[in-house]
Amino acid sequence: MGIHAAWLPSEAFRALGARRVLVAGAGPIVETVWDEVTRACDRFGGAAYRSGLSAEVPAHLDLVLSTAGRCPGAGSASAASPTEGPAASPTEGFVLGRRAESTTVLADGAAGMLYGLFEIARRGESAFDPGLADERHDPALLLRVLDHWDNVDVHPVMGQVERGYSGGSIFWHQGRPHDDLTRVRSYARLLAACGINAITVNNVNVHLSETRLLTSRLDEVAAIAGIMRAYGVRVHLSVNFAAPVILGDLPTADPLEDTVRQWWAQTTERVFEAIPDFGGYLVKADSEGQPGPFTYGRGHDDGANMLAAALAPHDAVVRWRAFVYDHRQDWRDRSTDRARAAHDHFAPLDGRFHDNVIVQVKHGPMDFQTREPVSPVLSAMPATRLAVELQVTQEYTGQQKHVCYLAPMWSGVLAEVAGQVGALAAVSNVGSDEFWTGHPLAQANLYAAGRLAWDPHRGPVALLDEWIDLTFPSAPGPLRSILHDLMDESWRTYEQYTAPLGVGFMVRPGHHYGPDVDGYEYTPWGTYHFADRDGVGVDRTRTTGTGFAGQYPHDRYESVATCPDELLLFFHHVPYGHVLHSGVTVIQHIYDTHFAGAERVTAMRQRWRRAEGLVDPALYARVADRLDEQVRSAGEWRDQINTYFHRKSGVPDAHGRRIH
Ligand code: GCU
Repeated sequence: MGIHAAWLPSEAFRALGARRVLVAGAGPIVETVWDEVTRACDRFGGAAYRSGLSAEVPAHLDLVLSTAGRCPGAGSASAASPTEGPAASPTEGFVLGRRAESTTVLADGAAGMLYGLFEIARRGESAFDPGLADERHDPALLLRVLDHWDNVDVHPVMGQVERGYSGGSIFWHQGRPHDDLTRVRSYARLLAACGINAITVNNVNVHLSETRLLTSRLDEVAAIAGIMRAYGVRVHLSVNFAAPVILGDLPTADPLEDTVRQWWAQTTERVFEAIPDFGGYLVKADSEGQPGPFTYGRGHDDGANMLAAALAPHDAVVRWRAFVYDHRQDWRDRSTDRARAAHDHFAPLDGRFHDNVIVQVKHGPMDFQTREPVSPVLSAMPATRLAVELQVTQEYTGQQKHVCYLAPMWSGVLAEVAGQVGALAAVSNVGSDEFWTGHPLAQANLYAAGRLAWDPHRGPVALLDEWIDLTFPSAPGPLRSILHDLMDESWRTYEQYTAPLGVGFMVRPGHHYGPDVDGYEYTPWGTYHFADRDGVGVDRTRTTGTGFAGQYPHDRYESVATCPDELLLFFHHVPYGHVLHSGVTVIQHIYDTHFAGAERVTAMRQRWRRAEGLVDPALYARVADRLDEQVRSAGEWRDQINTYFHRKSGVPDAHGRRIH
């Protein structure tokens, strides 16, 4: 099976490969750039020169890539803030411009040169426009990490990749590393080309084999790190908080015990001997059965700071997840609210974490639902470094069977958290699948996640254009318009035919695919909608509800008058006859959106038929198959949701459409 080129087909390098290119600089990442440039020039007839090494460098060059860029005062360097760490990356930025009739990338360091190269590839011919004005490029977020939820072994319930919809792991196969890591190399290249600079190789739920990646299986992580390094991607590990006990070395994992602290310090030393540029640890503690400091009567600050101390000598971070809640709740208890949990646990700890701790917060207070408010934790910890966590894998958004382009959602989130977070973590959607992501169009989500971490202001439509132009270089206009038609609004379409008005979690328990309105209603998971004959939604107000709305520094969500329609049922329990800002009642909105969403999916399938002959036939067929499933599934969602609410409320559809 070949490796799908995704957004790096060789055609993307035509413009630069046809020119005279000078590479000036030294070090492993510069070698990567050199390799890219020489291959492109071999293919497209240009010529590559190496400063100080090539015998003759012509007087006129079309492109100069150099690491001599960092000049005093360049970029956005300013005093470090507690939320962001150092304000500008020392090596990742670059200036793109024209000097002496050549296009130039003057990079702050080797990584900047690599990012500059990919910027040239994205621009194609226009990178060589004589009128090109100087532009400074710096990543908005210093840490742009993709978290794999891969297991070494195949887990009996979750499979190999937890919430993975793209085949097995690209790192491990049948309990061992893949013999051939060529695919991992191609992956590293794709990551760098969209701006990702770190990956976590294993699942946040750390089972036994994966606990050993920290010690006896460390060579497997080192092999991946060796490949990633060439593309400026640092490797992180998810670690099990109870590792000292699980690996049989100590009777306790108490973070305040000296023996435990020493164990982590020594173990971490060995990690850095094997992987000198190791990026850090990711920890899910005291959450969904994972061990943590609560077992020992300690706080999350104690746990995180212990690991931070072990990592501190090495310019590495511990990312400590704020996804901590009671997953054994009594559904009869209306006062406990899962949405409150992260803020209740973490906001009081603000200012108590070491400098190299990053508290990693899911973008919403619940769990990657199609629509949630932005987590209030992200504005409640000004003295703590924060990462926002997005889910690129489509656990709750169609599992890569449905087209659901998520950049519009993420743009909204990032606009709200600008200035509060210094890192973006995205749960990967990649696997051994021939198109990397199961649904070929889901590649765009991975691409957009990386690019948004680099530049959160880049709009979703512009990002989709970039992705289309790179991925389908011969794409004539029609394909571009077909893909925009399918994808631009696909997240809102998905929202239309699934759980209404922000209420969430009407999915089948366990695997989370397809509708089951009451699937979680009487379970311990804390994810309820409280529909009855009169109304639906969760009262999270301060005045009469769980008080969650009071965790925000503003009052927007407290009153139905100011709460946006799309989050109404997240914050309020309202009668079916409640009139939305849009002018329709809640019940009529449910019917209308479910009919409209399902119809829209049928139109999308129809539209895709026009792409036949414009793309690779295997890709065409894969998308067509998935659209058939999306049409089926959207119809099922429409009918179950509409029927459920019709039966509960007894209110007929104003337009007399068929409800079962
Ligand atoms: C969700 C998901 C789990 C995952 C968890 C997490 O609940 O269903 O599979 O482990 O999130 O983010 O830790």
